[in-house]
Amino acid sequence: MDIGVFGSGYVGLVQAAVMADVGHNVTCMDIDSQRVATLRTAEVPFYEPGLARMLGEALDNKLLSFTDDAAATIDACDYLFIAVGTPAGEDGSADLQYVLNVAGSIGAGMTTRKLVIIKSTVPVGTADLVRETIQAELDQRDADIPFDVVSNPEFLKEGSAVADATRPDRIIIGSNSAQAIDEMRIMYQAYNRNRDKLMAMDSRSAEMTKYAANAMLATKISFINEMANIAEAVGADIEEVRRGIGADPRIGYQFIYPGAGYGGSCFPKDIRALQHLADSHNQTAPIIGAVHETNQRQKNKLGERVIQCLGNDLAGKRIALWGLAFKPNTDDMREAPACAVLEQLWAHGASVQAFDPQAANSARAMYGERDDLVLCEGKEDALKDADCLVICTEWKAFFSPNFSHLIELMRRPLIVDGRNLYDPAYVASQGIEYYAIGRGLSISQASSQT
Ligand SMILES: NC(=O)c1ccc[n+]([C@@H]2O[C@H](COP(=O)([O-])OP(=O)(O)OC[C@H]3O[C@@H](n4cnc5c(N)ncnc54)[C@H](O)[C@@H]3O)[C@@H](O)[C@H]2O)c1
Repeated sequence: MDIGVFGSGYVGLVQAAVMADVGHNVTCMDIDSQRVATLRTAEVPFYEPGLARMLGEALDNKLLSFTDDAAATIDACDYLFIAVGTPAGEDGSADLQYVLNVAGSIGAGMTTRKLVIIKSTVPVGTADLVRETIQAELDQRDADIPFDVVSNPEFLKEGSAVADATRPDRIIIGSNSAQAIDEMRIMYQAYNRNRDKLMAMDSRSAEMTKYAANAMLATKISFINEMANIAEAVGADIEEVRRGIGADPRIGYQFIYPGAGYGGSCFPKDIRALQHLADSHNQTAPIIGAVHETNQRQKNKLGERVIQCLGNDLAGKRIALWGLAFKPNTDDMREAPACAVLEQLWAHGASVQAFDPQAANSARAMYGERDDLVLCEGKEDALKDADCLVICTEWKAFFSPNFSHLIELMRRPLIVDGRNLYDPAYVASQGIEYYAIGRGLSISQASSQT
């Protein structure tokens, strides 16, 4: 099939790669010409495991090409994915300008039938809006050309995007057209073999499924964080509680890790967009509001703990920070908990020595050069003369540090762990002051009190 993909971000690029990998002929279009030039050299502008290899092979096999020419893409392809960004507008609603821009170009440029597939996360009713936008352009040209619009929301996770896209849990197709659903089934056939994962439904339900899925996952995170805060106050250990509740299959172990709050380019904006959607339809959605507020509070917990330990005035203090990305295996720092920590520590006068296996360039792009931020080459460089270590991201490299070396390097052996990576008793036995999420007082303090 001749497939065009608009947008070469995390979603568009992965979609283009996995489609080309099974033999489709894919053109990936982006308005960012510099990005297109980089991609033509098989260089991926962000870190995503396995993606560079897959793109390189598809380019070698001439099944994938990159362009900044929208008209040529529309002309060459029968199937057009819209995978552009839908950032939050000021009022929290999803900004549809990029999606509708692509829809407008399709309506203005198409000369043969097109199937337009919306991959971006969009508010309920957007497929209708895209259809109207294309039709308006056709009407203006007095052109009578058939087309279909389907919703095909994406569920990949950054950090495991290629694996998720090649082994999807489900393929949601929102459409009332039997022809469009058949075409989508054929397109995805290679990824739909061991059981039928394709679920056809109306486009509004498909659009709502994506928001409901993200809202459910964000709710799990805010729920366990709320439990962690209560556990801490009452002297319980949230890690024991987590094991205890996860054993119930109705609850399960997935996505109930207490931590420093959720971030990234999806949950925060999608929660706000869902809230806006509910408000604009006069529906109260108190759970969604509470999930967001709990998360905002949780993001401040680590900074607050540092201030509690080192005092309000952090001038002259050096804080080591492990992990900048919003989660492991990505370099994406959009709305990362580390950003909240950095900004809080800076506001109190601290300087930060940060290490992340992949996200240093993202931090440079976000904050530029500043005296109070040193981006370190290695995790131990960040520890030198530090008054505290804050852990924001659960990269594997942080799971088993050499604690005696850590004590030698740091000015004060103090760890504020936002990902509950260590056994508190073991860390305390090494002579380290240790605070985690929902695990009560640091063991060293607790034992000195008894
Ligand atoms: N990142 C994720 O993990 C993820 C997962 C599921 C769904 N989504 C959703 O998918 C959509 C895309 O997300 P992303 O993370 O890939 O975004 P992104 O910001 O990484 O990439 C968007 C790309 O679209 C390009 N673009 C903008 N206007 C364009 C146009 N008119 N024509 C062609 N390209 C254009 C931009 O230059 C950019 O490269 C969003 O709606 C997002 O909510 C993202």
